[in-house]
Amino acid sequence: MSKKVLVLPGDGIGQEVTASAVEVLDFITDEYNLDFSVASMSVGGTAFNKYGTPIPNEVLNAAKDADAILFGAVGGTEWDHLDWKDRPENALLTLRKELNLFANLRPAFLFNELSEASPLKKEIINNLDILIVRELTGGIYFGEPRGIVSNKEPNYAFNTMIYNEEEIRRIAKVAFESAQKRNKKLCSVEKANVLEVSKFWRSIVTEMSSDYPDVELSHQLADNTAMQLVLNPNQFDVIVSSNLFGDILSDIAATLTGSIGMLPSASLDSSFKGMFEPCHGSAPDIAGKNLANPLAMISSLSMALRYSLNEIDMSDKIDNAIKKFIQAGNRTMDIATDEDYLMTSDVAKKIIEIIKDE
Ligand code: IPM
Ligand code: MG
Repeated sequence: MSKKVLVLPGDGIGQEVTASAVEVLDFITDEYNLDFSVASMSVGGTAFNKYGTPIPNEVLNAAKDADAILFGAVGGTEWDHLDWKDRPENALLTLRKELNLFANLRPAFLFNELSEASPLKKEIINNLDILIVRELTGGIYFGEPRGIVSNKEPNYAFNTMIYNEEEIRRIAKVAFESAQKRNKKLCSVEKANVLEVSKFWRSIVTEMSSDYPDVELSHQLADNTAMQLVLNPNQFDVIVSSNLFGDILSDIAATLTGSIGMLPSASLDSSFKGMFEPCHGSAPDIAGKNLANPLAMISSLSMALRYSLNEIDMSDKIDNAIKKFIQAGNRTMDIATDEDYLMTSDVAKKIIEIIKDE
């Protein structure tokens, strides 16, 4: 049976970068006779404008039915004034929650050829290769009770940071197993000096470590990790953290590489079905101008092939092609050092040429 790929371009540059990824997907599908069926639907602000909701039911159902989802980006100033339920970002959180995509893998790696683009010195940043494993369907993002109380003196607002044992175990398992496949170091990040939920998190992760004697486990407080990522990022291999801390730390890690336009991510459920999206947002300032870097999206396609579509060779081909593309000096605007750069629509063509030549 053919594997179902659902493309959700979303808003802004999401449209352009998913078009590039689909071009690569179409090419490998034809060239290597893969059995994929690809459909595309509106989500985010684009869906709100057409249907009055950022996540129509048909889209949610198609997403549940898909083997892999390629998600572009959502959001834009046009929709900033809307209530939360209508906002483009709500589509993202609904998909994560409804599809049970609890494991968010956010690699941050540097092509040494691009070290000039990093805000850090070469000696600190060269060879960077970190994987952040962020919990994505729990914690303070979804914790109940939550609310704004506006009939009291003074008024107040509150959220709940909550994790149960199973939620911690399943994300820690993904993190330990990822570390086993990499350099066998895992750093668990929380605020156990202040928060009960963090103490609990630390105790469970510590208890689980006896099942992974080959993985060296350490613990850090989130504020310290923010600092360590900038001072000495190469001390890390895999980092595991909660929804909120993982959100913050993954932005820091992504920035270290110089361009957020290079980094992919995967959000997986327990059967490794998932949604794959670039780390960058919808970038309204450059949207529609053919200037965006589609490599993060093409690299997200590679993660989809690896994790959800069981096409590891294809994933390797794309990763190698991206590496060669950079090594050959090809640049998009965000990573260029001069005016000589490729437009969005040129990138997929080059990547396809490189794959053909392999
Ligand atoms: C991310 C984003 C989202 C988050 C926003 C857009 C809701 O920052 O994926 O990191 O906070 O998870
Ligand atoms: Mg974020």
